[in-house]
Amino acid sequence: MSTLTLRRPDDWHLHLRDGAMLKAVLPETSRHFARAIIMPNLVPPVVTGAEAAAYRDRILAALPEGADFEPLMTLYLTEDTDPADVRAAHESGLIKAVKLYPAGATTNSASGVKDFDLVRGTLETMAEIGLPLCVHGEVTDPAVDIFDREKVFIDQVLAPLREATPGLRVVMEHITTRDGVAYVRAGGPDLAATITTHHLVINRNNLLVGGIRPHYYCLPVAKREIHRLALRSAATSGESCFFLGTDSAPHVDAAKETGCGCAGCFTATNTLSILAEVFEQEDALDRLEAFASLNGPGFYGLPPNEARITLQKGEPVDYPAKIESGDGPVTVFDPGFPLHWRVS
Ligand code: DOR
Ligand code: ZN
Repeated sequence: MSTLTLRRPDDWHLHLRDGAMLKAVLPETSRHFARAIIMPNLVPPVVTGAEAAAYRDRILAALPEGADFEPLMTLYLTEDTDPADVRAAHESGLIKAVKLYPAGATTNSASGVKDFDLVRGTLETMAEIGLPLCVHGEVTDPAVDIFDREKVFIDQVLAPLREATPGLRVVMEHITTRDGVAYVRAGGPDLAATITTHHLVINRNNLLVGGIRPHYYCLPVAKREIHRLALRSAATSGESCFFLGTDSAPHVDAAKETGCGCAGCFTATNTLSILAEVFEQEDALDRLEAFASLNGPGFYGLPPNEARITLQKGEPVDYPAKIESGDGPVTVFDPGFPLHWRVS
């Protein structure tokens, strides 16, 4: 097969930032993707419906001329979140999910949740109205090894939380372990997971062997090879509970290549070429559409996109090693192998 036509894909987990960075990275997504779930971890975070509406306007204003792209907004869950505001933002069609960051788990998560009893009212409202909770699934207890934080979160936080909130729809974001894959597979229709492009490509050796590679550092951190293989088998399985959320997370090089580098891989530019290569390696090109274009809308209760994109296989694809952001260069994720599929 040298041509592949898919419904236009969506990205169910994306960081666009704000200001000059937003303007620089948005075209990298809107070029190929029709919609994206927009992460609310700005500084300060997007907590209220009014803040989400204002952020949505800034995104729409930053779109390139003629772009066809719909930002799907989210609210950042805090211990002070007002369930009535969440309900109103959902009913008006403004928001498609609420994001849970355990406090301290990752970039700009300081306003996240420490005491889950304080968000019970919001979670119950969300269960009632069918609004999904997107979860950054890592515990923050310093005593828990960073490579175990996803599994411990499932056992100690997510499973009890779901049990206490029947009907709550949950997306486990950016799963990185075979434990996450197994948990989601067994979780029934109210549970799904996004999988990033980079976690299908790198394991922790890529991050650490032969020198530390800051552009492969993200959270949740890449795990052992057995976990990467489990993610590849989940993503390429076609199962409706797994779909693409790139977690494309731009940081300028100065913030990555430093003594304490930020977490995040910037994959918006070459994600589709990488995914086609990965799905071809797994002999699953016919299931790329399910992963990138069908399963996400299915879970979120939205129609799949009518427009199509075509990928063509040929000579290695040229893509920029960096994009300029106004605040400095942002390095594009390097999969470490040549890409042959280009979006035509
Ligand atoms: O690698 C990551 N980068 N993981 C996250 O959870 C946050 C993100 C960011 O905002 O940079
Ligand atoms: Zn993220």
